[in-house]
Amino acid sequence: MHVNVYEKFWMWGAGGIIVVFLSATLLAGVVQGRTPPSHVETIDPATVFTDARFAERGVVRRPDGSVVVTSIALMFAFQPNEIRVPAGAPVTFRMTSPDVVHGFQIVGTNGNTMVVPGYVSQFTMTFDEPGRYLIVCNEYCGLGHHVMSGTLIVEAAQ
Ligand code: CUA
Repeated sequence: MHVNVYEKFWMWGAGGIIVVFLSATLLAGVVQGRTPPSHVETIDPATVFTDARFAERGVVRRPDGSVVVTSIALMFAFQPNEIRVPAGAPVTFRMTSPDVVHGFQIVGTNGNTMVVPGYVSQFTMTFDEPGRYLIVCNEYCGLGHHVMSGTLIVEAAQ
C-alpha cells in the first residue's frame, strides 16, 4: 500500500507527540514524585466525627514550628470555620468529608484540594504574607454550596 510522504510525516509526527506527552507524565509522576495534592489515606465517612484523626478539629503547632490544620468539610460549612496560622511556617492541611465531595480553595493562593468522602486530603504550604484569606468550596455540593465558605487568617510570625 502506498502512503503519501506527507501523510507519513503527520502519522509519525502525531505518534511522536503522544510518546513525548506520555513520557513527560510518567517522568513527572514516577521520577519527580509529582502527584495530586493528596495521598492515599482512607477513612470511613460514617465515623468521621469519632475517628481519632478528626475527633479534634483545629490548629496544632508542632515543636519544630510547623503547623497541622485538621478540618472537616460538610454540607455546608468548614469545621473550624476560622483558621489561624502563623506566616512563614509550613502548614499541613488534613481534611475529609462525612457526606459528599467538597472543595477547599484558599482564594488568591495555590492552596486548593478536593475533599472526597472516604479519603483524607492533605497538602502542605507556607504563607509568606500575613492577611485574611477567603476559603471557598469549589465543588458543587448541594443547595447550600454557595454559602459554604470559611476564613484563613495568617498572622505575622512572632
Ligand atoms: Cu461544599 Cu460546595
